[in-house]
Amino acid sequence: MVTVEIRPIRLKDLDDVTDIEQRSFPEPWDSDIFDTFACWDGEVPLAEKNLGLMRVATENDRVVGYVVWMIPNDRAKGHIMNIAVREECRRRGIGSLLLRHVFNELAKVDIPICILEVRTSNDAAKHLYEHVGMSLVDRKENYYDDEDADIYSIRF
Ligand SMILES: CC(C)(COP(=O)(O)OP(=O)(O)OC[C@H]1O[C@@H](n2cnc3c(N)ncnc32)[C@H](O)[C@@H]1OP(=O)(O)O)[C@@H](O)C(=O)NCCC(=O)NCCS
Repeated sequence: MVTVEIRPIRLKDLDDVTDIEQRSFPEPWDSDIFDTFACWDGEVPLAEKNLGLMRVATENDRVVGYVVWMIPNDRAKGHIMNIAVREECRRRGIGSLLLRHVFNELAKVDIPICILEVRTSNDAAKHLYEHVGMSLVDRKENYYDDEDADIYSIRF
């Protein structure tokens, strides 16, 4: 049986991650960002003592999805910055697995809340967030160049 493993991004994952990112988003992140996470073993110190973290989900050591989150220096809440699953691997629970992994990691360091922004039109992602117990708490107008963002949150 093939199992999904979650681990820090490595340099050899970059092509897979960049490919998933480009196919998943109208404005994909630059591959340099993922390269930086890989060089720092998935944990990058950011400006103002914030911390960025990235994990990939793999099957047979091939990347099938990833998640990026940020822990701000006040450690009040975790903030999911990016999540995507390879198109042909969707609806198999991998997105849920990645989110629950982040919630567990935050809980381990006594951070009880996680939030994220999502395009108001992104129904698949909004369904996923509700599926893992997140709630719609707010909306930010014009958060994206061309669209508002819905804010989802969960307290564990
Ligand atoms: C959003 C995304 C990460 C979901 O990943 P996934 O691995 O398919 O999610 P899961 O399989 O864990 O889905 C769990 C539940 O979420 C809901 N869900 C997920 N995708 C859905 C969809 N397209 N339509 C309706 N509900 C959906 C369902 O309730 C699903 O449970 P079910 O399959 O038993 O019905 C994936 O669609 C993706 O990569 N999209 C492109 C990138 C993106 O939009 N990222 C979010 C940016 S904010």
